[in-house]
Amino acid sequence: MTDTQPQAQGSGGADPATSASRKGNDVPEPRVTTMFDSIAPVYDRMNTLMTAGFDGRWRRAAVRAARLSPGGTALDVACGTGKLTGALARAVGSDGLAVGVDLSQAMLDEARRVFGELPWVEFRLGNALDLPFADGSFDAATIAFGMRNLASFEAGFREMARVVRSGGRVVCLELSVPRPRFMGRVYTAVFRVTAPVMGATLRRRAAYSYLPHSLDGFPPAEEIAATMRRVGLKDVSFKRLGLGVVALHVGTAA
Ligand SMILES: C[S@@+](CC[C@H](N)C(=O)[O-])C[C@H]1O[C@@H](n2cnc3c(N)ncnc32)[C@H](O)[C@@H]1O
Repeated sequence: MTDTQPQAQGSGGADPATSASRKGNDVPEPRVTTMFDSIAPVYDRMNTLMTAGFDGRWRRAAVRAARLSPGGTALDVACGTGKLTGALARAVGSDGLAVGVDLSQAMLDEARRVFGELPWVEFRLGNALDLPFADGSFDAATIAFGMRNLASFEAGFREMARVVRSGGRVVCLELSVPRPRFMGRVYTAVFRVTAPVMGATLRRRAAYSYLPHSLDGFPPAEEIAATMRRVGLKDVSFKRLGLGVVALHVGTAA
């Protein structure tokens, strides 16, 4: 992964209703939560290792896509250890508010340990599929490497669109399968082997076996864009980052 420049831009494309990809994660929510609870202490280290340090750059691209201003409000869904929440907090500044929501108490504990001192940052236990906020509460909502874990991708986007004010942005940063197809096959084969092996070095092999599984059947970027349009988001576009192993989607709330 040596390249974070956009590889391709997408703003149109047919709704690939005939594709065989999944509509949501098939691993039950309690198991997902237990798994993230178990990896919370090593999550940031593993992330840096597995992305060769590019994850920070990708998160900064997500913050730029959220188009926040000082004094603004941002929600980071499935915030994990709060890396993106912290970056959003820097964008809105001390007159703003950045809120992180996650289902894993252990991930939230890590987030609070690192960012809990900032008075304009809050972390809350909550489900991405039933966000504990009123309609139109935020200027932007983001999700980074979280969408793949939700039982329904469409319901996840619908909730994000609901809590963002009209004209605000919904941003999704997520793993993707590179193109062309041959590259994608090589990548998924390598990922399937290396993720559990890397996890084993930190005695978390079982949890890191879940990662390649969660990418199996995850919709391609064009289909994610179509899902965003279906929930009513406007001006949906995406770009591929890191040679296509990541996609950054953006839409505007109606
Ligand atoms: C791969 S981590 C990503 C964490 C963080 N956003 C980042 O950029 O590193 C996925 C996170 O999604 C959370 N998660 C999974 N399902 C969720 C749900 N239904 N609602 C809220 N959080 C969820 C997990 O607990 C985990 O912290």
